[in-house]
Parts: sequence; structure tokens; C-alpha cells
Amino acid sequence: MYRIAILTASDKGASGQRQDLSGPAIREACAGFGQVCEYAVLADERPALAAALRRICDDDAADIIFTTGGTGFSPRDITPEATLDVVERLAPGIPEAMRARSLQVTDRAMLSRATAGIRGRTLIVNLPGSPKAVRECLEAILPALGHGIDILRSAASECGS
Ligand code: MTE
Repeated sequence: MYRIAILTASDKGASGQRQDLSGPAIREACAGFGQVCEYAVLADERPALAAALRRICDDDAADIIFTTGGTGFSPRDITPEATLDVVERLAPGIPEAMRARSLQVTDRAMLSRATAGIRGRTLIVNLPGSPKAVRECLEAILPALGHGIDILRSAASECGS
């Protein structure tokens, strides 16, 4: 079981104007994959989001951080930029897989600018902001993520198993 941190990026969620449904959707979809050790709803503020990501990685408080929201085209959507502020290495195959699978469901999947990358021993993955999109994207990537995390944490050294 992996240690999962969930960060929801939502101005309305952070101000209490909207209930966060996407964070709980991640928790539910990851029930057999890991345990949620941290969950927060933050405003769409690039420095604060980057600081939260940096802290979790540098404290080694989670194996994987899922963000949800803020990946679209709205001027306030800055989750990928906050992620790129902190990652040391990119993991482009993960958003590629999410978009490839999601495009079979909706053309609008191309509108998510989600990215993924690694800081230290923690993997950061952006998910779009709706519970439906969260479920669809996690379905596409969860089967392979464990192997990637195992390699990152050095529990596995070879591919092919
Ligand atoms: N991906 C999947 N699998 N399913 C969806 O319904 N919605 C798209 C896209 N990705 C969607 C999806 C839409 S409509 C938008 S605007 C973008 O994600 C960005 O969403 P966000 O700004 O909430 O992160």
C-alpha cells in the first residue's frame, strides 16, 4: 500500500463555496492502491501550491501526490505550472496515457494541461478537476503506477515483471 497525498486546487473549494468531490473520488478510486496520509483543499495560487508540493516531497511524507483541478485554460488554472516549479524530472508518459485513454471518452480531454514529475522520491501527478475525469484518468494509470513507484523507491530494479 502506497502513501498517497491528495491536493485539490480550487478557489471555490478553498473558500467553502463548493464541496470538494474530486478529492474523495481519488480516495475511493485508490482504495486498493494506497492509504491517504494527507488531504488538503488549496486555492489556485501558484506559490502556495508549489510550497505544499515541495513540503510533502522534501519531508518524504508521501510516495505519490495526486493533485486535482486547475489543469484547464482558465486564467486561474496554474496547477501544472506549480508542479513544474518543483519537479526535478518529468514523467510525461503518465499524462500521455491519461489523455490517450480520456480522448476515447471525450474530445475535451485535450483541454487538460496536466503534467507529472518526480521530486526526490515522490511522484506528482496532476488530475483534472471533475470526479468523472478523476475516475477515468486513474483507471488509465493506476495499473502501472505501482511499478514506477517501486522503482523510484528502489524496491524494484528491473522492468518486465
Ligand atoms: N478527462 C477525462 N478523462 N474526462 C473528462 O471529462 N474533462 C476535460 C479535461 N479532461 C475531462 C478530462 C475538461 S472539460 C477540461 S476543461 C480539462 O480536463 C481541465 O479540467 P480542470 O481545469 O478541471 O483541471
